[in-house]
Formats: sequence, structure tokens, C-alpha cells
Amino acid sequence: MRFLAAASPFIGATLAARPFLEVADTGFVDYLTDTAEWTEGRLPDLQDIRALPDFEFAAKQVLPEASWAFYRLAAGQEWGYRNNLDVWKKVQIRPRFLRDVVDLQNNIGIELFGNNFSAPFFIAPAANAAHGDPERAELNFMEASGDEDILYTAALYASKTIEELDAVKRNDTLNGRQVIFQQIYTVNDLSITWNDVKRAEDTGAKAIVLTVDTPGSSVRVRGARHSGLEYPSASTRPNTWEIYDELRARTNLPIILKGIQTVEDATEAVERGVDGIYLSNHGGRQLEFSPSPIEIAYEIYRNAPQIFQQVPVLADSGVRTGSDVLKLLALGVKAVGLGRPFMYANVYGYEGVRRAIRLLKNEIVQDGWNLGIGSLDDLSPSFLNLRALDQNVHKVGCNNS
Ligand SMILES: Cc1cc2nc3c(=O)[nH]c(=O)nc-3n(C[C@H](O)[C@H](O)[C@H](O)COP(=O)(O)O)c2cc1C
Repeated sequence: MRFLAAASPFIGATLAARPFLEVADTGFVDYLTDTAEWTEGRLPDLQDIRALPDFEFAAKQVLPEASWAFYRLAAGQEWGYRNNLDVWKKVQIRPRFLRDVVDLQNNIGIELFGNNFSAPFFIAPAANAAHGDPERAELNFMEASGDEDILYTAALYASKTIEELDAVKRNDTLNGRQVIFQQIYTVNDLSITWNDVKRAEDTGAKAIVLTVDTPGSSVRVRGARHSGLEYPSASTRPNTWEIYDELRARTNLPIILKGIQTVEDATEAVERGVDGIYLSNHGGRQLEFSPSPIEIAYEIYRNAPQIFQQVPVLADSGVRTGSDVLKLLALGVKAVGLGRPFMYANVYGYEGVRRAIRLLKNEIVQDGWNLGIGSLDDLSPSFLNLRALDQNVHKVGCNNS
């Protein structure tokens, strides 16, 4: 059953003209069933994983239903989630040739707030990695990101504590001691939030990521089925510009606002002195019909392109391939996060997370070569045909009616 459910999008691909593929057809299921010694419900061999979407299929084989539902769920009827994955087809690439691209393989590193990383993507903050690896949970994210020199942004509600994560930091990274950013949520008793910030500071986090797109609990149908409650519990959290201002006054660490979805909020954030903004619809988990990161980035590009120069802009939601990453970077995004792919990869532990990182690095280099860039600095919006996004883009000062 598990197999058929997960494989059905792949099978559908051969039957329908151009269906939406929730899990990309990478040939994985055909390979497993025809060639590999694999049976349904077992974890495929890690070396058979060739692209990030393969991890989703693999994780579905072994995760308990409730754990699977927690990782996979999205808000409402999940249009926003599907749009995050499907929107990339609207942005065609305009490759340029006859250019020297060889150096790109040594040139996909980025710098954020004085910290250096080997690639322009990071592990996004996602709670409860223990579903994937009950014992080591986020320790795998710490160690694999440290060994691969990419950024890990730890979730406040990680299965491991801030201090447990600190204890496994690598000391031999591009930055010396491993650099992570700490995500936080505000709670009604703000003294708890300020204490979380202090714990992050005490353990050497290099930035605070304040998630702002969750002022209330959300409609999560898949999750509700496993909650044991007749009706899902509903709650709110304090989340205002005044609280951001108070956080600003309490810490010297750079503050990044995660979950920005409009040019208006991006502009206000910059005006209020934020250090970075993070475009995200929470992987479609919070609000049905919220926009994908490429749509948000395009709205900013059309209305206030200077924002990409004023502060580093991060983005996530629905990113699965090297070309997805390059599209966001071409619009001016500095670093791109991935949530579910790493949570799924974690069913293989450290080795799975590391393979996910390496596969994506490889895709960025190969796609970048064929796009015609020798360095990430060569990227610009002229590499993209964005016309299909034009019909929906919001224009400030226009009521869009
Ligand atoms: C299982 C899970 C837990 C998450 N927990 C958090 C969290 O605690 N804090 C947060 O800011 N975002 C959280 N997110 C959202 C991610 O940071 C990220 O925005 C999202 O996963 C990106 O979309 P993607 O999964 O399509 O890559 C979570 C996502 C998932 C899948």
C-alpha cells in the first residue's frame, strides 16, 4: 500500500499529459522494482538515492504513519504546498553559452554576517528530527553540515537542546568553530523567549532567526488525524513589530525575520533595522494560498529591488533541485534553505544528510555550468524568463483589481 501510494504520481506521469507530480519522477521506483533487491516497506540502499526527491520516497517506506504525517503535512487543502513544488516550471532559464565556466566548482561559497559557507544553501529550522532518527535527531544535521561547511539553522523546538547541539560543533570548519544560526519563536511569557535568546548567545550562535509567519496555530488536516483530539487545539503567540524592537534592544546578534511574504513587510523590516530577511511560507504549513519564495522574491524585485542590496535575503519552501536554488539566487537571494528533504534524509542518519548536501552541491555546479556562470556573482535576473509570474505579481500602490 505504501509503495502504491507513493508510486502513484510516478505511474500517473506515464498516463496523463502533464500532471502535477508531487514527488518528481527520478526513475527511482522503476529502478528499485526492476533492478535493485528492494521490497516495499524497506529502506532503499543509500547509494541508490540520486536526487533529493528520492529521500521522500525512502522516508515514506519506514516512518511510522504519524511521523510521516508530521513531516509531510501542509496547511488547508495543501494548495500552497503543491504550488511551492510546482511553481518552478513557470520560471524558465535563459542559459548563456561561450563563456568560461570552469571555476564555478570552486566558487559556490557564500558569506553571511562575516561567516563563510561552502554552498549557497542551508538546513532550514525544522522541529522534531527525532522522528527520522530517534537517537541522534539533529546531531546528524550538526555533524553533516559541519563536515560539509554549510549553514545549519537550528529550530527552537528541535529534539535536542541548544546545549546538546553546541556540544557536537566541529572545530575545523571554514569559520574555525562551527557556525550555526538559532531559530526562535516568541511565547506568551516573553521571559522564556529572552532566556532562549540568551542560551543561543551563550552557546555562540551567530544569528537569531525570529519566525514571524506563525501568529496562530494552523489548519493542518494530516496532522489532526494523528493528534488524538476531536478538534485540533487552537492557540496564538505574540508577534508584533514592538516585540521585534524589544528583541533588537536585547541582543547584539544579527536578527533575521523568517516568513516574510510581501514587499510591504520586507520594506518595513529593512526600515526597522533588521539584519536579514527570510522569504518563506513555512513550506506551505501555515496558511493555505500563501506565496512560494520565487513569487515573493519576484514581488520584491519588481517593487523594491534595492532590498536585495540592503540586507541578505534568505528563502525556502519547495526547493528541491540545483536549478531551484539558482533561480532564487538569480533574483538576488543570498542563501536558500531546505526543510523536508533533510528531515527525510535523516532516516539514513548522518550519511543520509551528508549525501543530500553533496547531491545538491553537485547539481548547483552542473546546472550552473550549463547556465553559463563561472561564479555565483555572475548570476542576474537576465538568466530567467519571468513572464509567467508577471500576471500575478503584486504592484505596490495598485489595488490589483
Ligand atoms: C517537520 C517540519 C518542522 C518545522 N518546524 C519549524 C520550526 O520549528 N520553526 C520554523 O521556523 N520553521 C519550521 N519548519 C519550516 C521550515 O523551516 C521551512 O520553512 C520549510 O520546511 C521549507 O519548506 P520545504 O520543507 O518545502 O523545504 C518546519 C518544517 C517541517 C517540514
